[in-house]
Amino acid sequence: MNNRNRVLTVNDLQTTFFTDSGEIPAVDHIDFHLHDGEILGIVGESGCGKSVTSLSIMGLIPSPPGKIVGGEILYDSLNLTRLSEKEMRKIRGNEIAMIFQEPMTSLNPLFTIGNQMIEAILIHEKGWSKKKAEERAIEILKLVGLPVQMD
Ligand SMILES: Nc1ncnc2c1ncn2[C@@H]1O[C@H](COP(=O)(O)OP(=O)(O)OP(=O)(O)O)[C@@H](O)[C@H]1O
Ligand SMILES: [Mg+2]
Repeated sequence: MNNRNRVLTVNDLQTTFFTDSGEIPAVDHIDFHLHDGEILGIVGESGCGKSVTSLSIMGLIPSPPGKIVGGEILYDSLNLTRLSEKEMRKIRGNEIAMIFQEPMTSLNPLFTIGNQMIEAILIHEKGWSKKKAEERAIEILKLVGLPVQMD
């Protein structure tokens, strides 16, 4: 892996929730890094901070009560903890994505997967037609081995 580019570096990350019943150090000084093409699994008991680590990388820590209080998250040469919400929005869902634990909060069962993919593609690809977004959605579904049925 060492000859590959390092794409993500988490250095001494600390994410804390400031609640009425006190400060909860949900992520307490963690370090890891990822190279291009590498897969990293993070395991641990419930409540140990896996989701808060991922949400910190995505810039999705609910604030208040949460805050990244220390460390840095480097994506290539960008420090994600210093980006504005507008800058982060360009990266989120485009270059870094998260599959949330609760599918009902991410996907709407009233719409087809195709429509939801097209909506996300059109948000990121300015100037694309619906047709082009649809073709891309089909291409992505085929890429992951999901059969595509057109309506
Ligand atoms: N919005 C919040 N307000 C206060 N505390 C929170 C909040 N979100 C998470 N925490 C706390 O942060 C800690 C880490 O939670 P996290 O959800 O990251 O755990 P997890 O490792 O993903 O657990 P699981 O395996 O159950 O998904 C827990 O103590 C949790 O109670
Ligand atoms: Mg979790």
